[in-house]
Order: sequence, then structure tokens, then C-alpha cells
Amino acid sequence: MSKSPDTAARHFYGRRHGRPLRAKLRNLVETLLPKVRIELTEGTVPDVDPRELFSGEATFAAAPNAEFWLEIGFGGGEHLAWQAEHHPEVGFIGAEYFFNGIASLLRHIDDRQLKNLRVYEGDVRDLLPKLPDASLTRVFILFPDPWPKSRHNKRRLVQDETLDELARVMADGAELRLGTDDPGYLNWMLEYLMRRDDFVWTARGPQDWRVRTEDWPQTRYERKAIEAGRKPAYLKFRRCRRSH
Ligand SMILES: C[S@@+](CC[C@H](N)C(=O)[O-])C[C@H]1O[C@@H](n2cnc3c(N)ncnc32)[C@H](O)[C@@H]1O
Repeated sequence: MSKSPDTAARHFYGRRHGRPLRAKLRNLVETLLPKVRIELTEGTVPDVDPRELFSGEATFAAAPNAEFWLEIGFGGGEHLAWQAEHHPEVGFIGAEYFFNGIASLLRHIDDRQLKNLRVYEGDVRDLLPKLPDASLTRVFILFPDPWPKSRHNKRRLVQDETLDELARVMADGAELRLGTDDPGYLNWMLEYLMRRDDFVWTARGPQDWRVRTEDWPQTRYERKAIEAGRKPAYLKFRRCRRSH
């Protein structure tokens, strides 16, 4: 896993490995992952230029005005692969710490022959500082680990530091999508985002956050939450220029 020198001390609380991978996935890890993985170097910051990530891809030539979208904690990758398939003109970056999830995404990339997707295996908080200012036009954080016990709240991904970095790497007008099935985390997300002046909540009424839009396919975690009787919330925030 890539690690930036200034963040080596940060602790990650999620799990890295699950069940042993089957032969097909092991094979994709060996053959496909090296082609799509994003490597961080210890050089200058920023050192991950989204346009350069796709420069060697003949069938996806990032145009001068190409957009780049990021999904953080993509789990099994079903949402990310759907977005990449439905938006072939967009370059996608997926960041995930759980290795089995990365392997699952590789299967989607291979099955659908996706050319517009790159993967960062590790903690997104190490990747974000390496991205250029205003380089992303959409970011997804779908059903992040809720850490519901109050003594664990500080482990949540949505924190001021993460939002500061997102505000920096997101272009003016870029969209931040968040999903959660945890009422405590929902309140937390709203509180942390609505006290800022660089993100604005786009919902005009309850339907806008209680109902998932058609361009937002269900994730595995969300399906399990609904089966367990929980009611997810779907938030869309817009990155906006500071007024001062
Ligand atoms: C509860 S799962 C949800 C997965 C998926 N988004 C879904 O809805 O099915 C949260 C995922 O986020 C990943 N994750 C949590 N914090 C992360 C971080 N800082 N960087 C990268 N991935 C992270 C975890 O490894 C886990 O796979």
C-alpha cells in the first residue's frame, strides 16, 4: 500500500483483508491492478494529476475539459463501476482501504472493460493532499463506516480536516454526494457541512434527501441497511466559492 511520509503515523480503524481471494480475483490482482493502481511518490505536492493518470489510455483520451470524479470507500465497487460505465467521458478515481473490495472492483473493471477508472489502495486521507486544487467535479462518500459509539465518533471520515481537503480539490460547483443509514451520522454530516461556507446543501424538500435519484445506483451496504429496516438518507452538497 502506498503511504505518504507525512501521514505515516495516522491510524486506520477499518479492516484491510477479508476472506482469501478466489483464483480469478488473485489473477486480476496480479495482472490488472498494476495497470490501474495509483502510486504516490514522496516528491512534490501535488503529484497525482488526474489527467496524467489516463494519458496512456488510447480509448479514453482525457480532453482538455475532461471531468474527474472520486469515490471514497467504494466497498465492492458496484456503484463506482456503474458510474464509470455510464459516464465514459469522465475519468474516475476510486479510493478504498479494504483489499477484498479492491479485488471486487477489478472484477467489475474486467467484466465491463472499463478504461476510465483508476484505483488508490489505501487511506484516502493520504491521497487527497496529492491532488491538485479544483481538480475534481464530483465526489461520492457512500455509507461510510458510521462509528456510532460517541467515543468512536472521531474515527468518522467526515471531519473538518477531510472536508477542508475536499473543498480544496473540488472545483467551484462540484457535487459532493453522501449516503448514510445512521441517524447519528446523518446529523453529524449535516452539522459539519452546514456550518461551512464552502459547501451548500442542494435539497429543497424532504424528497430530495429521502429518495435516491436514478443516477445513483444502490450500493451493497445500502441494500443490507434497507433489508434490516433502516432508512438511508441521500445528501447532495455543492462546492461554492467563499463569499469573503
Ligand atoms: C461501510 S463500507 C461502505 C462501502 C460502500 N460505499 C457501500 O456503500 O457498500 C465503508 C468502506 O469505506 C472504506 N473506508 C473507510 N475509510 C476509508 C478511508 N479513509 N480511505 C479509503 N477507504 C475507506 C472501508 O474500507 C469500507 O470498505
